[in-house]
Amino acid sequence: MKILITGSNGMLGHDLQEVLKDRHELILTTSETLDITDKNQAMNVICENKPDIVINSAAYTDVDGCEENQDIAYCVNGDGVRNLALACKEVGCPLLHISTDYIFNGENDKPWVEDDEIGPINVYGRSKLKGEQAILEILDKYFIVRTAWLYGINGKNFPKTMLELSQNHSEITVVYDEVGSPTYTPDLAFAISQLIETDYYGIYHITNSGSCSWCEFAKYIFEVADIDVEVIPVTASEFARPAPRPSYSILENKNWIKNGFKPLRSYKEAIKEYIELIK
Ligand SMILES: NC(=O)c1ccc[n+]([C@@H]2O[C@H](COP(=O)([O-])OP(=O)(O)OC[C@H]3O[C@@H](n4cnc5c(N)ncnc54)[C@H](OP(=O)(O)O)[C@@H]3O)[C@@H](O)[C@H]2O)c1
Repeated sequence: MKILITGSNGMLGHDLQEVLKDRHELILTTSETLDITDKNQAMNVICENKPDIVINSAAYTDVDGCEENQDIAYCVNGDGVRNLALACKEVGCPLLHISTDYIFNGENDKPWVEDDEIGPINVYGRSKLKGEQAILEILDKYFIVRTAWLYGINGKNFPKTMLELSQNHSEITVVYDEVGSPTYTPDLAFAISQLIETDYYGIYHITNSGSCSWCEFAKYIFEVADIDVEVIPVTASEFARPAPRPSYSILENKNWIKNGFKPLRSYKEAIKEYIELIK
């Protein structure tokens, strides 16, 4: 297939390239060669290349930054996705778009399924929801993949921050009242590579299996990395940040399993592999 990837320099973008490059022809675009907020550029680049599918891994992902820079958030995560959807419609190709657990409000006592009521509680979540809504309005052939708590080799992420902090701190405070499923970007990229081979269009939750709080995740990271650091649990309200986060973010991978795909491996196995790689 001829696959056009946006945001190909990002954390997930890098792993998508790795996973897809041997079996597909890739058109790799970055914010310089395809700024998704530029409607004409999006239309021109996609119409010129006529891909079989567009994968959008571009986004404004600074969750706290979104509170301050609301215009940028809505422009990239909302209007940018609309521009891609319009171009895909013009060419007649599907769009696979990455969305987030942050479109839910976090008030639940069981894992969120794809058709649960949405209700973002911060600007990032609201802007990502705008992107989803644009796709639903414009396209019939789409995959919306909601995922969560991403980490990988090529980006800023929680495990990396924990390991860096441990170099000069003997105690680290970590939030214990937010739970989710840490997800390794190569595993997600592989799942996406399977999904795009099908025409099972729709909304998907895709995360590694299992779940934990940030605090449990930090403890597990230090256990696997064999680092002696004391992890001190704090509440999200004690650990004030500009954007509120949903407290319950576990996504049931219901449509993924229903369509016959295998659950992704556990987050514990995935983080072991990641730590081995970066050690
Ligand atoms: N990270 C997480 O924990 C998480 C959780 C759930 C869902 N997601 C979603 O997963 C996807 C991938 O996330 P990620 O962590 O890999 O993100 P990332 O590392 O921040 O990469 C995002 C990429 O988007 C590009 N970009 C930003 N504005 C753009 C624009 N106007 N036009 C074209 N490209 C633009 C950035 O390029 P520049 O650097 O050149 O600006 C960057 O390469 C995103 O949709 C995100 O919302 C992430």
